[in-house]
Amino acid sequence: MSGPIILAVSAQHPDPAVLERAARVVAEGGLVAFPTETVYGLGANALDPRAIARIFSAKGRPGFNPIIAHVGSIAEAQGLVRTWPAHAERLADAFWPGPLTLVLPKRDHVPDALTAGAPAVAVRLPSHPVALGLIRAAGVPIAAPSANRSSAVSPTTAQHVARSLGSRVDLILDGGPTGVGIESTVVDLTGSAPRVLRPGPIGQAEVEALTGPLDRRAAPRPGEGLLLSPGLLDRHYAPRGTVRLFASTERPALAEELAQADAGGRIIGGMLLGEDLPGRHMLRMPDDPAGYARALYAALHQLDDLGCDLILVEQVPDEILWAGVRDRLVRAATAATP
Ligand code: TXA
Ligand code: MG
Repeated sequence: MSGPIILAVSAQHPDPAVLERAARVVAEGGLVAFPTETVYGLGANALDPRAIARIFSAKGRPGFNPIIAHVGSIAEAQGLVRTWPAHAERLADAFWPGPLTLVLPKRDHVPDALTAGAPAVAVRLPSHPVALGLIRAAGVPIAAPSANRSSAVSPTTAQHVARSLGSRVDLILDGGPTGVGIESTVVDLTGSAPRVLRPGPIGQAEVEALTGPLDRRAAPRPGEGLLLSPGLLDRHYAPRGTVRLFASTERPALAEELAQADAGGRIIGGMLLGEDLPGRHMLRMPDDPAGYARALYAALHQLDDLGCDLILVEQVPDEILWAGVRDRLVRAATAATP
């Protein structure tokens, strides 16, 4: 089986001819994976229900999970939504282009396939030059979930995309590793107060500073109402092996478990913040939230590729700045529901 076409492209100064070629694939209803500042996206024409259907099937994504429309300008976002409240204006001014997604009531021409039937659409203006260049060359908003099979680990390199999706994707633009590393913060602006549906690179406090108090109810769970977020599925961002979170006080017991595992031929990986543990596949993680986020998915991919049966992940600090990373770790550690 032949793999996908992968084209190298400069992250800062993408070749217009390469972007044009990718834009043609989008125009023809195809799928193009491309880097954003957060993770790689699996892109298609957001106004073409058949192209959107191809995204769902390439990812094996449940049909009830809506997809973000990526736009090339604030005006293009405004063209997709029915209202542009003061909170949207402030947040877009402060954080766009960048890793923030806003959920707003959709206009009629926005396909139900994109929003999974919901009356609201998620819009994001990314800052990555390749993402922006592709959207602008395509001349249409680009629907793009993370470019991985559903519930698997998100991709931060073109190689991650190729391994996860193979020839289910028509073309991959390889702009090197992404900088932020975890997906955008998703803020729902359809209620009376803004509500963070998915924590991410832009913190709650940063949002709140511009909008006033947030609606702090826990984000809705699958099956509760229409505003469903794929990031809210319990198991998500998960490698094949089991992920187990541990507290640093568990070190002595873990050291013992590791010694036995080695003898028994089990492969155990680790992602550590504190002292080392005796094991061949122990990765040291950055001890700041932004550095950790950047390294997180590459570490999970690496340990997954080594065939780890178990991945021990040291708990990150229980602080608001770590909310995005902690959310991804907890979901990676959630056992698959049958
Ligand atoms: O950083 C990102 O957001 C990446 C890159 C590629 O832009 N994309 C991404 O897409 O993470 P995905 O599909 O893996 O996650 C989409 C998130 C969901 O968790 C959900 O919160 C939100 O977008 N979403 C999309 N459409 C929505 C809608 N109509 N209502 C509520 N949430 C929506
Ligand atoms: Mg995803």
